[in-house]
Amino acid sequence: MKKIFILGLVLGLCWTGGAWAQALLAVQNVKGRTQMSLDGMWKYAVDPYGHGGYKGNGGFGRDRHFDGSQLQDYDFDTSDEIRVPGDWNTQKEKLYYYEGTVWYRTRFDGANRTDGMRQFLHFGAVNYEAVVWLNGKMVGSHVGGYTPFEIEVTGKLKERDNSLVVRVNNTRLPEGIPTMNTDWWNYGGITRSVSLVEVPETYVKDYTINISKDRKWIEGSVQLADAKAGMKVTVEIPELKLKQSVNLLDDSGLWTFAYTAPKKLRLWTPESPKLYDVVISTETETVKDRIGFRTIETEGQKILLNGEEVFLAGVNIHEEGLGDHGRVTTREEDSLLLTMAKDLGCNFVRLAHYPHNEDMTRLADEMGLMVWSEIPLYWGIQWTNEKTYENAQNQLREMIGRDHNRCSIIIWSIANETAVRPERTAFLTKLAGEARGLDGTRLISAALQNVNKRLTPTTYTVEDPLGEALDLFSFNEYIGWYDAKKEFCDSITWQLSTTKPVVISEFGAGARIGRHSGPDAYFSEDNMESVYRHQFVMLDKIPGLAGTIPWVLKDFRSPHRLLVGIQDDYNRKGLYSEKGEKKQAWKVVREWNVRKREQVAGRALLAGSR
Ligand code: GCU
Repeated sequence: MKKIFILGLVLGLCWTGGAWAQALLAVQNVKGRTQMSLDGMWKYAVDPYGHGGYKGNGGFGRDRHFDGSQLQDYDFDTSDEIRVPGDWNTQKEKLYYYEGTVWYRTRFDGANRTDGMRQFLHFGAVNYEAVVWLNGKMVGSHVGGYTPFEIEVTGKLKERDNSLVVRVNNTRLPEGIPTMNTDWWNYGGITRSVSLVEVPETYVKDYTINISKDRKWIEGSVQLADAKAGMKVTVEIPELKLKQSVNLLDDSGLWTFAYTAPKKLRLWTPESPKLYDVVISTETETVKDRIGFRTIETEGQKILLNGEEVFLAGVNIHEEGLGDHGRVTTREEDSLLLTMAKDLGCNFVRLAHYPHNEDMTRLADEMGLMVWSEIPLYWGIQWTNEKTYENAQNQLREMIGRDHNRCSIIIWSIANETAVRPERTAFLTKLAGEARGLDGTRLISAALQNVNKRLTPTTYTVEDPLGEALDLFSFNEYIGWYDAKKEFCDSITWQLSTTKPVVISEFGAGARIGRHSGPDAYFSEDNMESVYRHQFVMLDKIPGLAGTIPWVLKDFRSPHRLLVGIQDDYNRKGLYSEKGEKKQAWKVVREWNVRKREQVAGRALLAGSR
């Protein structure tokens, strides 16, 4: 065996050519770098009229202390404090509904370097628009509330008392992504961590490492920034005794490699989520990551994980903590949500409707949950606005840029429930092509529209041309809640003109936990359970069904849900309450998840592929 393995390595191909999506972020895997956290209590000022940009103040970005010598309308030193990371809506009662500008300011020491190191400010996410000043000078800006961004600040830092000011505006915009209307709370603020990242002059800007579709090769790329020909780069997977180095042939900084996959390599699965330490090093830097190896593909109407049929027994999750919390801000909260999904019998989660924080996808790798990751092209987007397309492109690149090494992610999704019009289908078809160009190793999907079209009174179909551009035929349906009586589910058949795997990306019903007002009363637990029972009778008959994703793991805040005493600002379709209590329907969904997973696993076994 050993001889074969060594022979394999000799056959390893290491060339510096190859198609590689240019590095999508300034720094891949910030967690694997030297970084100084800037999280904590920041000063803040609420600025509903955007007065802070007024030149008379010199702009709040100047962070001037008021000492009476000059007229100004602000002073962060005497302002109140707010926690970063975190949304302002659930930290400050006055800001519960606030949409507008809030200025944030922190000060920090000990960051100036002269020894050739480079520094980047890293923001995990700021919802929705951020403008950043450092020591009184604007250094960068970003649009998009759910993806990371970095701003290089090398040479702009002082030894002591650096002033960092961020203007955050979460106003919904017609041209925005998402746009004016969402069924989730518009939590504003610096909602994810901020840090100062330090890398050497020539640094590992990006890398990717996968197993090939035929599962015979470990292949990948390393992209250095500001490299010179001759520089040495090493990739190592100690547990597999794989260590290979190359001296770069040119200044592109790009190394693309492929090595025979060792026989003892264990593939990642939800049941056995094996991760390997991967070490990428140069003469001046060592970057460590935890990587799982798996393949995902479709074969007819089957989804194959590592070549074996799998059923996506999923649940939708919004990035909101339990209790009165708003946006998730800790790994513990992520872990709790994913544990609730596993308890529900899930092997899959749809992170709705926007990229969740990085800990969430890293935990999914570790805990063994496949992931549908999505950018918030949700409902009424401005499909003919070029700037909106560029925004979509950027959010797609940042989502893929951050997470393309997360084996748990099997699906990139580009939209949810967008009305079928030529300009929408053109926009999304082009974007689907971009997604495939950036990452050909994952499935591309979206929640289609034009659902519940009736061919006969009891025969439903979906008519959405976007399906042609995607790898899955996914759609949301709410028969028994929004559409028709739940009993009608029993007589519905779905006639879908697709040869692709069918995934029901949303379905369900709502209930206030503890409300038992009979099986036909809206928001009673008995009715919610009954809707699921009728839904599963219908879903079980859909040909090519490869996955189901009930809406939603837990009750979550939404500005649409105003029914006092029942909704109280919460969308009540959670299988758990907002406090994490199981509702009556929970057991029905769990039974379905377990049964479908076993049924498909059994099929795979019979097919002899196990
Ligand atoms: C829609 C939408 C969700 C929404 C859900 C609901 O399908 O995709 O974001 O929360 O229905 O109405 O509860």
